[in-house]
Amino acid sequence: MERVTRNERACWILVGGRQRLGRALAEDLARDHDLVLTSSRSWDGETWVDGLSKRGRVRRLQWDAENPELVSRMMADLDTLKAEDWVISGAVLLAGNFPGQPLGSWTPAALEATWRLNLGFPFLCAQALAPHLEDGACLQIILDTSIHHPWLKRLPYSAAKAGLAALVPGLAQLLAPQVRVVGHALGTVLPAEGDHAAFLADRTLLKRIGEPADLCRAVRFAAESPFLTGEILTQDGGRRWVR
Ligand SMILES: NC(=O)c1ccc[n+]([C@@H]2O[C@H](COP(=O)([O-])OP(=O)(O)OC[C@H]3O[C@@H](n4cnc5c(N)ncnc54)[C@H](OP(=O)(O)O)[C@@H]3O)[C@@H](O)[C@H]2O)c1
Repeated sequence: MERVTRNERACWILVGGRQRLGRALAEDLARDHDLVLTSSRSWDGETWVDGLSKRGRVRRLQWDAENPELVSRMMADLDTLKAEDWVISGAVLLAGNFPGQPLGSWTPAALEATWRLNLGFPFLCAQALAPHLEDGACLQIILDTSIHHPWLKRLPYSAAKAGLAALVPGLAQLLAPQVRVVGHALGTVLPAEGDHAAFLADRTLLKRIGEPADLCRAVRFAAESPFLTGEILTQDGGRRWVR
């Protein structure tokens, strides 16, 4: 079971906790968690976070996968949190992007950019966070149902998520028994621009796309399941069984 911080609220860090699913998860968890949220950009003007701060402690950090000083930045921020008595019992890695990169468009620079954000960044975050997670913590990584069937117009993205599918059980072995590691392979929840929700829903067994609440529920379930590690939970409405 996760321990709590001195004011009785567990403290979690959400990497990519500012937009879309990251924001939805932050808003859900803020009910009963203190939060550290990261974004690649300055947090100026994000007034919704002020609302969260009324419920508990919220710290905003700037971690940009493109920053050459990223590793030292993460280490300094995590040391500061520790010095200020933040005890981190959960982490969720959400940052990524979803670039369309059909065969024929691949260049070394474009491939490296996709893999830096979607693969290298989660690896570096996990490495930085691992020594700062308290015993019993759960590190959760957001993947994609593409680990079962790659998106053919997004193969570089799919390959990055397949790399994270190796990270989950590998890291679970390296960090056990102190820290558990769980992945979430999601089908479409918030469609990308230009994608048609109704078409995507029809391509599932359950005839719907996901909702942010589906992810929130599963993240809480993983955190509260002390016998669960090294697993990837797929929530895609049965998308991968549709031919
Ligand atoms: N949405 C879906 O339906 C869906 C489906 C399957 C899997 N997923 C996975 O779920 C996660 C969240 O998806 P999403 O759709 O909510 O968001 P997203 O658009 O894929 O982006 C996630 C976050 O990544 C951050 N980010 C972008 N560039 C960054 C950089 N250079 N350095 C650090 N962070 C950066 C962004 O925050 P800032 O701009 O604030 O930095 C953004 O909030 C992703 O890993 C995605 O692959 C999503």
